[in-house]
Amino acid sequence: MRSARQRLHTICGHVKWSKEHGRVNLVQTRSKVLSTDNINPFVKNMEYAVRGPIVIRAAEIEQELKAGKSKPFSDVIRANIGDCHATGQKPLTFLRQVVAICTDPDRLMDDPKYPADAKSRAKRILSGCGGQSIGAYSDSSGVRVIREDIAAYITNRDGHPCNPDNIFLCTGASDGIKTIMKLCMTGEGGNKRAGVMIPIPQYPLYTATIAEYNACPINYYLNEDNNWSLDIPELKRSIQEARSHCVPRVLCVINPGNPTGQVLSRENIENVIQFAKEENLILMADEVYQHNVYAKGSAFHSFKKVLTEMGPEYQDIELASFMSTSKGYMGECGFRGGYCEAINLDPDVKVQLLKSISAKLCSSVSGQAAMDVVVNPPTSSEPSYPLFLKEKEQVLGDLKEKAKMVTETFNSMDRMSCNVVQGAMYAFPQINMPPAALEEAKKRGVPADVMYCFELLEKTGICVVPGSGFGQRPGTYHFRTTILPPVEKLKEMLERFRTFHEQFLSTYK
Ligand SMILES: Cc1ncc(COP(=O)(O)O)c(C=O)c1O
Repeated sequence: MRSARQRLHTICGHVKWSKEHGRVNLVQTRSKVLSTDNINPFVKNMEYAVRGPIVIRAAEIEQELKAGKSKPFSDVIRANIGDCHATGQKPLTFLRQVVAICTDPDRLMDDPKYPADAKSRAKRILSGCGGQSIGAYSDSSGVRVIREDIAAYITNRDGHPCNPDNIFLCTGASDGIKTIMKLCMTGEGGNKRAGVMIPIPQYPLYTATIAEYNACPINYYLNEDNNWSLDIPELKRSIQEARSHCVPRVLCVINPGNPTGQVLSRENIENVIQFAKEENLILMADEVYQHNVYAKGSAFHSFKKVLTEMGPEYQDIELASFMSTSKGYMGECGFRGGYCEAINLDPDVKVQLLKSISAKLCSSVSGQAAMDVVVNPPTSSEPSYPLFLKEKEQVLGDLKEKAKMVTETFNSMDRMSCNVVQGAMYAFPQINMPPAALEEAKKRGVPADVMYCFELLEKTGICVVPGSGFGQRPGTYHFRTTILPPVEKLKEMLERFRTFHEQFLSTYK
């Protein structure tokens, strides 16, 4: 027999009971407009593994440890996300000084504790801000003097001129990438959707944005057997297969690579540009790790430089390249600073791009100030140079040591192989899964790499991301780890990892 309350709920779901002053009342409510059945389906389709279920579980374990629950480890090591400062990296003194003075010029501009070069940088930035305040909106594309500093940095880096009008500041590189990708959408559905070529494995921002914009991912596999190189026959295969169900428009390249840690050779970049020309594609070059190159013989070549040097017949290729404050030796993820340089756009398209940026007003001006310091660091004749150099070299030196340590350690483990971490901040080792582990994963209804990573987390407190979150060739199993924990912590992490891996293999032998 149903109660009166149940009957009422059946009749009108929007009537709620409340008890007040000892009396039972009926309160008129309305049902939610949004449910997961009716929200934007493209948002529902988005996935972002780097902050996915394994990370939620890691946070729960941290709480359990805090509450005194006994575990075979005393802390969680978060090697799931490229968040440098969260893993212990210290901010660069000079960058913080400049941003601090920009933020509080009345008190700090005359403070003798702050060096003259930090003050002159801050003055220059503030001179470009409305009311000399970083609290004012900037031009939509960013503070003019900062764009000039970025252009000078690019000119100096590449040895070719850069026009500040081709640059816009953004809220982290993520925002710039989304802005350009949005511009490339066709506005149509079905097989007229824009096709976006992305590497597999990829940084999940790309698949998430493609899903959000209802575009069509065109997956090209990186060649794991050749240190994750980008092979032209594979690009050709993927675009040919995609033609029947979308309109290929964009080719995204991440160099140095995330999650794969490779650095593309100049020849490889030339071939990619040639391919983009032949296939009439817009190039998006994600170069946020341009300062993170460690391996002997590897060097960063910007797409802009290579394209410029390939000759006049390549100067019609539309190229957007992206940089960030979040990576390099700065690791200032929270400032959300970034820029995009877009070249060879049709002038009318540039107007439309600017309009779409204007609708967001501007990116955070403190993020822009941080970006300015990245492109305009102390020079050898300035007072802050020695400390700046020491801090920069410390971070990059440690990363280099850790890149080597991680590669060697994973390669020394049975049934594990890891390409050389040439750059960026990650390793993407492959686990040669024992058949019994594959069977067990099947029984549990989860991919084997997910099972591996969850067991690793539960038994050791190490949080890494399963390879399936980035994409991998079917039948292969990987995980991504950052190389960010401090050297001693990373050593400890790798020891915990080795013990776990040996136990895993003996369990499933
Ligand atoms: C390849 C790549 N591109 C873009 C981003 C986003 O950077 P930002 O913090 O500047 O948005 C990341 C962050 O990890 C990344 O790895």
